Amino acid sequence: MNATEQGRPLRVALSKGRIFNETLPLFEAAGIVPTEDPEKSRKLIIPSNVPDVEFLIVRASDVPTYVQYAGADIGVVGKDVLMEHGGEGLVEPIDLNIARCKLMVAGFPDTDLESRSRFRVATKFTECARRHFAAKGRQVTIIKLYGSMELAPLVGLSDLIVDVVDTGSTLRANGLVPLEHISDVSSRLIVNRASMKVRHTRIHEILNQLSKAVPLT
Ligand code: ATP
Ligand code: PRP
Repeated sequence: MNATEQGRPLRVALSKGRIFNETLPLFEAAGIVPTEDPEKSRKLIIPSNVPDVEFLIVRASDVPTYVQYAGADIGVVGKDVLMEHGGEGLVEPIDLNIARCKLMVAGFPDTDLESRSRFRVATKFTECARRHFAAKGRQVTIIKLYGSMELAPLVGLSDLIVDVVDTGSTLRANGLVPLEHISDVSSRLIVNRASMKVRHTRIHEILNQLSKAVPLT
């Protein structure tokens, strides 16, 4: 480690649940293991078995913000969240190929997207939805939600939703179907642009080890 890289441990921002669970084996392959389980601990900074790396536990949608403003050096985040946030101040060196799903437009099976002049769309991905419908030349009113998007058409809050779909079972269970594909999604490793320069030796070492552990499609 050179002089500019000395100091505090590298901070890795992760969200609890799916991303944490699926990222863990990749970091393990790089020899980095958290010392506590975030599902059991109330700590938001979790040390690792190596002194120069620690984990920050944040909301999935906050990961790019922590990395952009250097609260964390590294983060793991879904491409859906990243597209919504934008990439300012970040580099996205690795597709980790985990938490794979698709960002979709969904609605009732009898929805005719060509026949109506305006749709109401419920989503937490407001920017992605705005861009998608603008590119299609469709007029929409976007209604911001923070979860349970599938409920919105059922109670007349919206005509359509934009959400991630994996098995499709949540849509099916609620009588909805996928209607349009917006983007394939997987989780990405993101790095603060300045950290990438200042702490490049250790970050590149970790990136190399993680790359080797990325699951094949
Ligand atoms: P927040 O707490 O900020 O609302 P969240 O509840 O969406 O986030 P998770 O459910 O852990 O957080 O999802 C994290 C990421 O995993 C998503 O951004 C997406 O990329 C991916 N993902 C979400 N749902 C699925 C799914 N059903 N199957 C596979 N991957 C998924
Ligand atoms: C996500 C998303 C959908 C669901 C899609 O929710 O918001 O509701 O997963 O997955 P499916 O197509 O396999 O049904 P959430 O994060 O709550 O999903 P989870 O219940 O799988 O954790």
